[in-house]
Amino acid sequence: MKILVTGNAGFVGFHICQKLLERGDTVVGLDNLNRYYDIDLKKSRLKILKKITAKAKKRYFFFKIDISDRQKIKKIFMKHKFDRVIHLAAQAGVRYSLENPEVYIKSNQVGFFNVIDLASKFKVPHFVYASSSSVYGDNPKMPFCEQSNTDHPRQIYAATKKSNELMAYSYSSLYGLKTTGLRYFTIYGPWGRPDMALFKFTKNILRKKKITVFNKGNHKRDFTYIDDAVNLTLLASDRISHFSKKKTPFKIFNIGSNSPIKLNKFISIIEKILKIKARKKMFNLQKGDMISTYSNSSKIFKKFNYFIKSNHYNNIAKFIYWYRDYCSK
Ligand SMILES: NC(=O)c1ccc[n+]([C@@H]2O[C@H](COP(=O)([O-])OP(=O)(O)OC[C@H]3O[C@@H](n4cnc5c(N)ncnc54)[C@H](O)[C@@H]3O)[C@@H](O)[C@H]2O)c1
Repeated sequence: MKILVTGNAGFVGFHICQKLLERGDTVVGLDNLNRYYDIDLKKSRLKILKKITAKAKKRYFFFKIDISDRQKIKKIFMKHKFDRVIHLAAQAGVRYSLENPEVYIKSNQVGFFNVIDLASKFKVPHFVYASSSSVYGDNPKMPFCEQSNTDHPRQIYAATKKSNELMAYSYSSLYGLKTTGLRYFTIYGPWGRPDMALFKFTKNILRKKKITVFNKGNHKRDFTYIDDAVNLTLLASDRISHFSKKKTPFKIFNIGSNSPIKLNKFISIIEKILKIKARKKMFNLQKGDMISTYSNSSKIFKKFNYFIKSNHYNNIAKFIYWYRDYCSK
């Protein structure tokens, strides 16, 4: 297949592309390489993708483009006929959205509209996009199921993700575009994001610096290992036979591990692996943060007969192993 992956210099996009290239698909990657976090990390990920296709250059293309630039995106759709679009480019991060809401409107609203509208106009058979567990916002009912209420997002990031789902429904309903929204729950693993807990904690603990712990470490997250997120994304993206001709071709799936853990427990695993005690600076719950996320992912597990085999301890260890190796270079 020929697949457009937006945000492919990012954490999830990089892993998705790696898997697609390894299995023989052709990938067109697109990213604006913004400076939200260390751009060298993004460039290192892109270098690996290039290496995979060193002997088959015509299977991987990269464009440094901002998705808010409709004309440039349109040129890509004119040049390549895609079998799938996996749309991951977005301004991520809950906390950053408190200070920079306008970036979220530009990338997650205008950018999202450009990509889905072009996917529809160019008759792409399946449009897959990243939503987020944050859409569950103030919903107190756990675990979160796909049909749970998502009308109360706690910040602009969550509001943009919820609106992506609404836009996708309109395109599915109006034009029959097959859409699948994936509500990711806190993904972690090698090549992870420097703004996320595991990266920040590991970095600071190793440097003997204090770590900042919000809500005194009492909130829970349904941490999802990157390999599971990638496997499930590709299973969902590949399959279109389950879209019924009689119903609006619109699907939403949770992608989580169904096993939330307290932040303090998560930190204690990092301490155990590093064999260093963390020095913690405790704070109250940060504005906009959710107290807990807990996924019921049985809908996607059942659909694709998928089981999570690995455990958090081993997966955190894999991140730390990667982090040490990456920093030593
Ligand atoms: N990682 C998680 O835990 C998580 C959880 C829920 C949802 N998500 C969603 O999954 C997707 C991927 O997340 P990630 O963790 O890989 O984030 P990331 O920040 O590592 O990747 C996003 C990539 O998109 C690019 N990008 C941002 N704005 C762009 C624009 N306007 N034009 C072109 N490129 C742009 C960035 O440069 C970055 O490389 C995002 O949509 C995010 O909101 C991630």
